[in-house]
Amino acid sequence: MQDKQITDVTAAVLRTLEGCTDPRYKQVMTAVVQHLHALVKEVDLQPAEWMAALQFLTRTGQACTAQRQEFILLSDTLGVSMVVVGLEQARRSAKALADREASAMPTEATVQGPFYWEGSPVLPLGADIGAGMPGEPAFYSGTVSDTRGRPIANCCLDIWSGDGEGVYDMQIEGEAGKRLRARFHTDAAGRYHFWSIKPTFYPVPQDGPVGDMLRLMGRHPNRPGHIHAMVYAEGYVPVTTHLFPTDSPFLDSDVVFGVRNSLIVPFEKHAPGTAPDGRAMDRPYHSARFDFHLAPAA
Ligand code: BEZ
Ligand code: FE
Repeated sequence: MQDKQITDVTAAVLRTLEGCTDPRYKQVMTAVVQHLHALVKEVDLQPAEWMAALQFLTRTGQACTAQRQEFILLSDTLGVSMVVVGLEQARRSAKALADREASAMPTEATVQGPFYWEGSPVLPLGADIGAGMPGEPAFYSGTVSDTRGRPIANCCLDIWSGDGEGVYDMQIEGEAGKRLRARFHTDAAGRYHFWSIKPTFYPVPQDGPVGDMLRLMGRHPNRPGHIHAMVYAEGYVPVTTHLFPTDSPFLDSDVVFGVRNSLIVPFEKHAPGTAPDGRAMDRPYHSARFDFHLAPAA
């Protein structure tokens, strides 16, 4: 009788990739198959365990909606997103280090997270996106320049955060619409300023499969306070990042591993009075300053 039986399944699957014409796809899929098979063998995976894993992934997909991206949450909480971000950051930093005229490293990136919403309102510098929202007011200012220190005019800062209780607009059922998010553009000298709230720590969504996973792993679900910024201008490498207040809890145990020392910023607390932009404040407020640096695209 002819021997049809495959004894080395891993080698057999890898042979099926011989006809793959995209070399990068072939490289990645070869590694996916090798690592997946090795993982199954390493832990001596039982059929019921593999079925549970498939059901977990099915639930993860089913939890995704236009407002919720459970797969991003899974990638973030398993640290995969930050490994990808870190590799890209290393490539960017190497380029800046090779530039003899560079005076600054490109601003460090961190996770985008699941709450980015394309098409935020474009607002003038100085606008307050935190007005009427729960949270303590905060004045944000600084500059955007390139890695050689040259200011970048008309650079877009796409800003978003949760409110002072850590709740994002996208998490609110119904017609809440966009809030605590806007796009600002730097002035001719590369300067920006706007008002929002001082961000507070919050738990990532726990009512889905990723929440179940965190509980089973014995982990807390919290992120330190942060405000998100996607900073981009034509001719420069964009950066998606956060600013973290120095005094936020969970800076050393972010559930998505997103903290970078260079992104931890003091938020100075001020008594009521005249703010740096001349605004009369009748309640205490904070101010935070941060200068962004973008690498040239070429
Ligand atoms: C966020 O910062 O918005 C976020 C990032 C990763 C997972 C969940 C939320
Ligand atoms: Fe966030």
